[in-house]
This record gives sequence, C-alpha cells and structure tokens, in this order.
Amino acid sequence: MIILGLGYITIKSDKLDDWTEFSSAYLGMQLVDKTSSTAVLRMDERKQRFVVTNETAASNIFGWEVNDRQSLDILSGRLDKAEIKVTREPKSIADQRFVSEVISFIDPSGNKHEAFYGPELSNDKFKPGRPISGFRTGTLGMGHIVLNVEKLEKTQWFFQDVLGFKLSDYMLRPFKAYFFHTNQRHHSIALIETGQNKIHHLMVELYSLDDVGQCYDIALSKENRIGTTFGRHINDNMTSFYSYSPSDFLFEYGWGGRTIDLDNWEPEEVTYGPSLWGHDRLWMPEDQLKQAQEVRSQAAKNNVRIPVNVMPGNYNIGVGECPWWNNNLKK
Ligand SMILES: [Fe+2]
Repeated sequence: MIILGLGYITIKSDKLDDWTEFSSAYLGMQLVDKTSSTAVLRMDERKQRFVVTNETAASNIFGWEVNDRQSLDILSGRLDKAEIKVTREPKSIADQRFVSEVISFIDPSGNKHEAFYGPELSNDKFKPGRPISGFRTGTLGMGHIVLNVEKLEKTQWFFQDVLGFKLSDYMLRPFKAYFFHTNQRHHSIALIETGQNKIHHLMVELYSLDDVGQCYDIALSKENRIGTTFGRHINDNMTSFYSYSPSDFLFEYGWGGRTIDLDNWEPEEVTYGPSLWGHDRLWMPEDQLKQAQEVRSQAAKNNVRIPVNVMPGNYNIGVGECPWWNNNLKK
C-alpha cells in the first residue's frame, strides 16, 4: 500500500487552552511549542504529531505518510487521474510540518488531507505530559480517525480506489460503518454514514492498559468528560473509552488493538458490534443505545470472547494448573 500510515493531525479550534490541557495533561502528549495561535505536540520520537491552531485560514488536516518522493509522485498521479485537485505545498508548509515534502487534497466529503514523506526526528527524548508508558505509533501510524460522512459511496471510493486503503470489515447496525487499513493497524480510517460531514473521533493507542485506566480515573473526576464508557471493540479488539474533546468530536484512548495479517485478510460483516462489552455511547439516541446494548448482551449469551493482544514487555504468563481452563483450551 502506498500510504504507510497516519502521520500527523492538525485540528482547527478556538479552544486552544482547553486543547492544550486535554492533549498534554490528560492524554499525555508532550507540548513542545505554544503560541497565541498554535499548540504543537509530540507523541514519540518525531518532532511533531498533533497540532491545534486557531488561525483563520487553517482547517483540520489529516497527514498521510508515504515512503519517499517517488511514492508522493505516484500518489499525486493517482489523484490527478481521479480528477482530484492536488496542491504541491511550498517548502514553508513542509517546514511547519517538520517533513521533507507535502501535497494536499480534499476528499469528496470535504475533509482536507495531506501526504508527505521524510518526517524529522527530535534529538530530545519524548517527555509525556503526564506519566504514561507511551503511545503505540511506529509502523502502525499515530492512531486512527473516524469520519461521519453524508454519503459513504464516494468517500469510500476515494479511500479505497484512489488512496489504496483496503477494507478491513464493515457493520450495518446500529449504524453503517466501514473500516479501512493501510498497515497492520486494523483501521487507520473508518467512515460512518450519518448524513453529515464531520469528525466522529480520533484514536490514540497506549502501550499499557494502566495508562488507559489512569486516564479513565482522571475523566471520572471531571464533569461531562466521558462520551463513551470503558469497553472493548469487537473488530480491532481495542479496550478503550471516549472523551468529549474540546471540539465537537470524541477522542478515543485505547490499549491492546490487534494487528492484522495483511496477506491473508478477508473483510467481512461484523454482526456483533461495534463493541463486545461496555462502550455505552452516552451521546447516542435512546433507541440506538438500546439496540447496541441488545447486540452486546446477545454476544455475551453466545459466549463470544476474544484473546487480548499483548506486546513483549507488557505481560506475564500466569503459572499454575486449572483443569477446567486447560480443558477449555483443548476444545
Ligand atoms: Fe475508534
């Protein structure tokens, strides 16, 4: 796939101070620069991952990483062929993003995207805004974005046929959602057909489940911070919760997302979903909330369970014998 992953995000918001608190003291990103118009944050060894700006001419931007200049040219050619206008951004924009070169384009739902190569690394160690184990980025990109779209079809065509994302899976209830990957992260982008065009949520993943639990404790101490309660997604296996961000979209904070086998992946409909347990969507209309709860209780009645996804260094294998469990494993 020509796009390697989600490299950076810019959010346009007037609530710069709220965003600064939210992204650093709450989520644990590192604030590296703050002016009257812009907050710049790091999540890892890169100089910059997340930017919030109140500049009038700014917009939300999703930055997609490619390997090199040749890949950027190929992508640009594909966009041209699809009659999507491509802008070669000047060096000043690449410098602002701390990357080598940038092109920009707008998707059929009106969202602005950039593609780039050559991210700059910092010489200074990443220092989180609050003590966390760190964000799971690397080859998986900085997380995922989920967009509300008025109509799925055209935007799905854009991501799949033009940008080259692959379908991971989809669900038709309690709402229509399509999930797409471009690396081993189960989805770097998903589209939900809701009749409007806006961000639904952004997601960052942590190395330790405790980072998520500790953030949940902070969320519980604040009024109206939790938008979706603690729970586990059935398709990407993420254990997470969602906060109301200072803008009008949610921010998912997760752990334990699955990585997929790119060569042997077959997309299918997710019938139990979007969550195996928990994730009460407090913002959802009553009838849809009820439908989601019914789907979850059906999954529980049918004994649906999925293993946790761990990484070297964040688990211990339990010792001891349990005849009942051992017997269970053999089935
Ligand atoms: Fe998500």
